[in-house]
Amino acid sequence: MPVISFLFFIKGSLMKEQLDALLHEAGSELAGISSEEALQEFKVKYLGKKGALTVIMKGIGALKPEERPVIGQVVNAVRDQLEEWIERALVTIRAARKAERLQSERIDVTLPGRRKPIGTRHPISLVIEEITDIFAGLGFQVAEGPEIELDYYNFEALNFPKDHPARDMQDTFFIDDNLLLRTHTSPVQVRSMLKHAPPVRIISPGTVYRCDSDATHSPMFHQIEGFMVDKGITFGDLKGILTIFVNQCFGKDTGVRLRPSFFPFTEPSAEVDIACVICKGKGCRVCKNSGWLEILGAGMVDPEVFRHVHYDPESVSGFAFGMGIERIAMLKYGISDMRLLFENDLRFLSQF
Ligand code: PHE
Repeated sequence: MPVISFLFFIKGSLMKEQLDALLHEAGSELAGISSEEALQEFKVKYLGKKGALTVIMKGIGALKPEERPVIGQVVNAVRDQLEEWIERALVTIRAARKAERLQSERIDVTLPGRRKPIGTRHPISLVIEEITDIFAGLGFQVAEGPEIELDYYNFEALNFPKDHPARDMQDTFFIDDNLLLRTHTSPVQVRSMLKHAPPVRIISPGTVYRCDSDATHSPMFHQIEGFMVDKGITFGDLKGILTIFVNQCFGKDTGVRLRPSFFPFTEPSAEVDIACVICKGKGCRVCKNSGWLEILGAGMVDPEVFRHVHYDPESVSGFAFGMGIERIAMLKYGISDMRLLFENDLRFLSQF
């Protein structure tokens, strides 16, 4: 080996001194570290790609070949030591954090619990329940139908032929030509009669939809349908049942009046009025000085409907009626704007 090349070797002893100094410096620096962020910085400073130990390690190539493995071992020992220190410091820092947290978040188990406010029943639900109860007491069973309904059950089987002007009053939201959001609860008449042979006595509350929106109309609202089919049911039964209902719902002696009307699925048909609950029939703003309030539509089931459900109109007869729940709730509770029922304002809702 030529003498000249010896001058290019760094001395192994010098590198060993550097490593000792590095370990010493790191040791005293670590003693002052108390957060995970600082510890991370410390790790990068010594062991990172451009860290102090890495820089020294890169010098190994300049050592004499026989010194390289010796110093290599020292470098490894220093790295192991640093890694062990970092790991231990991390455990200590985390334990201290946890202890601090437990101290500040201490739970006083003797404090009383916080109550969750239990809401109140929505007035629509209250009215549905009350009306359903009255009819259940008269032997009616509750049935429900789908809100997304076939044109057939909502219109066709109820004797609204396609393009019949009676459909205009019940414009709705169509999903396709044959599927729509039901405009009334009357399709439950058809569904129930197809399922059960007479006699039937059914009450059916539910949500219905129409293309309408103002202070007294909501595009989504609720109805209750009622119907009864048996041998020998008459218009007198309809009036009797409705009178019992009105007297239970709005008070004994509330007057009931029937006016001739038209529905494609009842014949004869009637609008049913009650004596104004505000002025007791004297005339006021709510009843537009007439003394009467319209609350529902009704009539005797049309033979055409019976034919669609394979009932024999020669051997059975029946009545049907349908009322708007919002209207009844507004009259019962003196609510002036229907939209209040759907705004979810707790100041309004908690009054019921
Ligand atoms: N379904 C009718 C409507 O929504 C009301 C009604 C029901 C009329 C039953 C007669 C018989 O307008």
